[in-house]
Amino acid sequence: MTTAVCSQMADDNTEKQASAEEDRSEKTVSSPGDTENQVLSKRQRKKLLKQQKWEEEREQRKQRRKERKQQRRLQRQSHQEGGEVQSARKRARREATPSSLRLVVDCSFDSLMLIKDVHKLHKQIQRCYAENRRASHPVQFYLTSLGGQLRQSMDEKDKGWVNWKDIHIQTEHYTEVVSQEELVYLTSDSPNVLTELDPKKAYVIGGLVDHNHHKGVTFERAKELGISHAQLPLSSFVKMNSRKVLAVNHVFEIILAYLEKGSWQEAFFTVLPQRKGVVAVGWDATNPPKKDDETDSDSDSDPETTAQTEERA
Ligand SMILES: C[S@@+](CC[C@H](N)C(=O)[O-])C[C@H]1O[C@@H](n2cnc3c(N)ncnc32)[C@H](O)[C@@H]1O
Repeated sequence: MTTAVCSQMADDNTEKQASAEEDRSEKTVSSPGDTENQVLSKRQRKKLLKQQKWEEEREQRKQRRKERKQQRRLQRQSHQEGGEVQSARKRARREATPSSLRLVVDCSFDSLMLIKDVHKLHKQIQRCYAENRRASHPVQFYLTSLGGQLRQSMDEKDKGWVNWKDIHIQTEHYTEVVSQEELVYLTSDSPNVLTELDPKKAYVIGGLVDHNHHKGVTFERAKELGISHAQLPLSSFVKMNSRKVLAVNHVFEIILAYLEKGSWQEAFFTVLPQRKGVVAVGWDATNPPKKDDETDSDSDSDPETTAQTEERA
């Protein structure tokens, strides 16, 4: 009995030992650090690590995809909008009815200007070009006597001018391009006031930014050359808190607006900047504007205001 019991106990011990051995070996296999590395090949380990990394970066990839999608959507949108603006412009050009009226910017005063004013004139001319391209009744646009500092500024700052369309750019003086009897010089110093525009004429604007330093120069030049001259009918239609000497692009745009609207008053209100304090003259046949109205705002003694108007372009 004792022997049997002893033998039974010995068997139990052996079984326990074997099971403990098994346990130990399972634990070792499932530990990632050592045994696994010993079990897995180098290639498998690499693959496993790659997979882990891939899993970890899942969120970042999702975020990047989202961002790319949004970017593509924005790009599509801006393309569409750009296209719409372009086609609206093209449509406007197709539907435009060109006027036969010629509008000349006389660039023969180049040597009277400082380079900073030449740059301003350049901007004003760019503005005239752009406005004429989108106008409902574009004029026949001429730039004459182009050369000197202005030509240099155009070459340096806007090489694209050589591709400008619907514009006559000449180095010649306007008197060599248009016959004398067709010319009308626009100048605020003329005693003649324009009432309407003659589509057979060529109206000349002095290409000058001078802050009133060369007062009356275009009027004198027109008289010397025996050319007709006239001022815009500002005083007949609007009162302003500043002088009647306007920047080149304002005169240009007023002519375009008049051709479109057929009304000087509307043209002045559309084009002249707010700070000029433009208000309508209560003008009717029994109450014409007083002579004072014309001379008062014609005072050429306020270079600041001209400068501001010229700078707006
Ligand atoms: C800044 S102004 C130059 C002023 C310059 N001192 C002059 O003698 O003409 C630019 C041009 O716009 C035109 N202009 C300006 N105001 C005008 C007005 N009230 N009537 C007609 N033309 C005007 C003229 O052709 C003028 O030469």
